[in-house]
Amino acid sequence: MRKSSLVFTARLPKPSLLGSEILLVYDESLVKYSTEFKSWLKSFPLRYPVAAGEKLKSVDEFPLHIHKIVALCRKSSSRNLTVVVVGGGSVGDFGGFVASVLKRGVRLIQIPSTWLAAIDSAHGGKTALNVGSAKNQIGTFYPADNIFLVKSLLLSQPSARSFEGFGELLKIALLAGGSFWKSFSKEKNVTPDLLWKYLRSAIQEKYKIVNKDPLEKTGHRHLLNLGHTVGHALEVYHELPHGIAINYGLDFSLRYGVHLKLMTRKDYDALMTYPVMAYLLSPSRDQLLFSNAQFLKNMQNLLLSDKKKTSSHKLRFVFLKNPGKATIVEVTVDDLLIEICRQKEEEWND
Ligand SMILES: NC(=O)c1ccc[n+]([C@@H]2O[C@H](COP(=O)([O-])OP(=O)(O)OC[C@H]3O[C@@H](n4cnc5c(N)ncnc54)[C@H](O)[C@@H]3O)[C@@H](O)[C@H]2O)c1
Ligand SMILES: [Zn+2]
Repeated sequence: MRKSSLVFTARLPKPSLLGSEILLVYDESLVKYSTEFKSWLKSFPLRYPVAAGEKLKSVDEFPLHIHKIVALCRKSSSRNLTVVVVGGGSVGDFGGFVASVLKRGVRLIQIPSTWLAAIDSAHGGKTALNVGSAKNQIGTFYPADNIFLVKSLLLSQPSARSFEGFGELLKIALLAGGSFWKSFSKEKNVTPDLLWKYLRSAIQEKYKIVNKDPLEKTGHRHLLNLGHTVGHALEVYHELPHGIAINYGLDFSLRYGVHLKLMTRKDYDALMTYPVMAYLLSPSRDQLLFSNAQFLKNMQNLLLSDKKKTSSHKLRFVFLKNPGKATIVEVTVDDLLIEICRQKEEEWND
């Protein structure tokens, strides 16, 4: 798979550095948050503003978008055209898909504007559209030629959004272990500067995993799903921001691992003494997990629609043994529902 080159920069790059004929696909709300972006975008004659969110990724809406995009780019050749995408994960997934199919594939530059996109979704080349309520059912592997990590753009986000990126950062630090975890685990507060400080290490770690399994054939890339199986189901059910749901999904996975003796309770307790781990428990278990029939039925349906299933009712679940050591175990959807009830009722003294 083609390698993306990464550029860390304080400000948005000079337009002339990006290509000769550029189609700028961008999150229209960015003009509200960044005056730098607002004046920068005026340098691009071909602009396609979009509203971020899952509707943008809907396959039903795609024909409307692509008609307008083809009309905008009618004078550009596939050889010269570059799609530059500026936005969070939804705009990145949509814009990446456009670049991969437009004129049979054109150059792609990603400029992520959310922490989630900067840490995770802009890297690894996955593009996606949704079919009905089923997320990411259609897509391509199409790594960007260049990815710009722009400090001023990322810091233009309201600081409360740092928590959303933090779930992904914590996940990757736990998967990495070693010196990354050692340094990260000493941090006391989640601030936007903290996310910028660890951005490079987090991205490097993601590439280490992706490069061993670029097309998701061997299962290794599945490690990146730590915290995501139950996290995703809770995200949809409670309509939570992705990163917040993943925080909780991580805690669920750790405690499930203790129950299955993949991690000792002593190691879990030691891990939870790090200040960064405290963020896992907000919102609390009592606000998220229920053991009534209606909640479990919903969870069952959401878990059954997980794309990562290995058979009709089994999924690969990622457990952490220790920072730097994760393992994948096949579990059934029923196992997960039983574990949800167990964790809900468990006396854990916390
Ligand atoms: N391709 C992948 O590998 C991959 C991996 C993980 C997630 N995803 C996808 O990513 C999406 C979620 O990512 P997201 O949360 O970044 O999505 P998003 O694009 O919907 O952005 C979330 C919100 O942040 C706003 N926003 C964007 N940049 C901002 C800025 N600088 N300041 C203020 N507000 C800003 C957006 O307008 C939107 O309201 C989902 O669609 C998910 O499926 C893809
Ligand atoms: Zn995620």
